[in-house]
Amino acid sequence: MKSRTAEKMNLIPFSGIRKVFEKVNELKSQGEDVINLCIGRPDFDTPEHIKIQAKNAMDNGLVHYTSNYGLEELRNVVSEKFKKDNGLNIDGSQVIMTVGANEAVFITMMATLDPDDEVIIPNPTWPHYETCAVMTGAKPVSVPLKEKNGFILDPADLEAAISNKTKLLILNTPGNPTGGVYSESDLEAVAEIAKKHDLLVLSDEIYEHLVYDQARHNSIAKLPGMQDKTIIVNGFSKAYSMTGWRLGYVAAPPDIISAMIRIHQYTVTCATSFVQAGGVSALTSSQECVNEMKSAFDERRKMVVSRLQKIKGINCNNPQGAFYVFPSVKETGLSSEEAAYHFIGHGVAMVPGSAFGEYGEGYLRISYASSYEILEKAMDRIEKAVDLI
Ligand SMILES: Cc1ncc(COP(=O)(O)O)c(C=O)c1O
Repeated sequence: MKSRTAEKMNLIPFSGIRKVFEKVNELKSQGEDVINLCIGRPDFDTPEHIKIQAKNAMDNGLVHYTSNYGLEELRNVVSEKFKKDNGLNIDGSQVIMTVGANEAVFITMMATLDPDDEVIIPNPTWPHYETCAVMTGAKPVSVPLKEKNGFILDPADLEAAISNKTKLLILNTPGNPTGGVYSESDLEAVAEIAKKHDLLVLSDEIYEHLVYDQARHNSIAKLPGMQDKTIIVNGFSKAYSMTGWRLGYVAAPPDIISAMIRIHQYTVTCATSFVQAGGVSALTSSQECVNEMKSAFDERRKMVVSRLQKIKGINCNNPQGAFYVFPSVKETGLSSEEAAYHFIGHGVAMVPGSAFGEYGEGYLRISYASSYEILEKAMDRIEKAVDLI
């Protein structure tokens, strides 16, 4: 009998995060009280002014297809944002509004990769990159992000992974799941290698506004000779708490945009019309809402890191970005999956680091996108549960 699903689907597993969610749901349905720290989205509502602009747009008839590229007004606003925030001159014609950053990653890979091309994906990492690469038939190549380097790519590891088939390098700064942030000199080292080997770089900058302490976000596209090699992926989900709106964007050199728009056109057509009006409001209004969310995240980050650093058996570095901490549980002697299940049994759900790739083994991802009080309660539970290992 013919298989009803494509053979390539055997290469696309369910997400490791989903397994934990299923366990949490099972326990909750049995009346157990489990604090869920697996969530990869801000816990705030979307700011009111953004909602109002989208509602008005809908009432005023912005309910039809937009250009495949997106509203011209929004693409120009994104172009302004690149100038203001990143010091980049990117014309609106080099921008496509997408259905989340997620779609931006997918169309980038579809437009740039042929079967058998190699894509370097430093890990632990957000699992979508590998899945999207596999969907194109390209081969993902893992490179470790080491804790001793702050989970920043070691140039020697990068060089070692490059072959004559390497086409694309994935960079994610600030990073999910580690919270690692590349400094300008970190990026310079990567850029030199990308230029030497003629690699394209997909730079996922969706957490750019969530950087703490002395850390600053830098785009690799800003470095000499890099804008023509870089595809920047970004979106509204994290900075403006708009995950359900599904709005992102991608900026790339004209030849790559011209390839990407064809994938976008034949899959999603365009990002949702009135949602794009909300995007204009997000980028053109006061950024105070972003700063307020960032301050709340920072307060929680400091508390969570300092609490974890005092717990025996857990080693927690001090992540400088996003809203995740990525502590090591190696000293407990448990694998990251065993540790995750142990803590779920004691009322706190976290994602095993192994869900983010082979080099995530031995770690747990904790999202601090929950209230300060809930996070304190979770830390109390973790402290007690460690003693029971
Ligand atoms: C690194 C990274 N890029 C992209 C996304 C997806 O963003 P969007 O909601 O815009 O699709 C996520 C979501 O968790 C992420 O962690």
